[in-house]
Amino acid sequence: MIFQRYLTLPLVQVVVVATTIICLSTRSEAETTADMCKETDYPGVCSTALQDVKTGGGFEDATSVAIQASIAQINQAKSKVLSLMKTETEEGKLFLDVCREVYQDALDNLTACDSDLKEKSRGGLEDKLSSALSDIGTCDDTLNETTNLASAPPVLKYNDVIEKLVTDALALASKI
Ligand SMILES: *[C@@H]1O[C@H](CO)[C@@H](O)[C@H](O)[C@H]1NC(C)=O
Ligand SMILES: *[C@@H]1O[C@H](CO)[C@@H](O)[C@H](O)[C@H]1NC(C)=O
Repeated sequence: MIFQRYLTLPLVQVVVVATTIICLSTRSEAETTADMCKETDYPGVCSTALQDVKTGGGFEDATSVAIQASIAQINQAKSKVLSLMKTETEEGKLFLDVCREVYQDALDNLTACDSDLKEKSRGGLEDKLSSALSDIGTCDDTLNETTNLASAPPVLKYNDVIEKLVTDALALASKI
């Protein structure tokens, strides 16, 4: 009994020390959000979007948060478009309605990224993020077709931020 107790005690300590070493070493190897954002086209936009991400989740968490940030921006842009539509001319409304529609398509694609994240499907993420990006581009093109649409500048400004966020999400997704 005494012999056994002497034998087990150091073993427990060894395990505790070993576990601590493993935890410390994985922690120091985990990439910070700044490191991950360096891999994107717009590191500043990326860092702002990921400021609440805890170190250790890796590119998967980072991609997820960047997608959530994109969804939040598109929802804001959509609300803006809906309120601008109230005061636009009939012709202006038609242009804005294209944006309203493609925002919804982009939201559908970004929301569907959830299952790709769970399955770690890089291809699925890249497809959906690219679709979302081209949807926002359709809104840009539509607004650029028209001159003198008072509503265009604020919407294009939103799109600029959304496009940067989704582009960064694509870069992060490619590292999963
Ligand atoms: C993503 O967008 C594309 C093109 O806009 C569309 O064909 C597709 O159905 C969308 N996918 C999802 C999951 O919403
Ligand atoms: C639309 O116009 C804006 C502002 O002039 C410009 O930044 C953007 O690149 C244009 N987008 C497209 C798709 O032509």
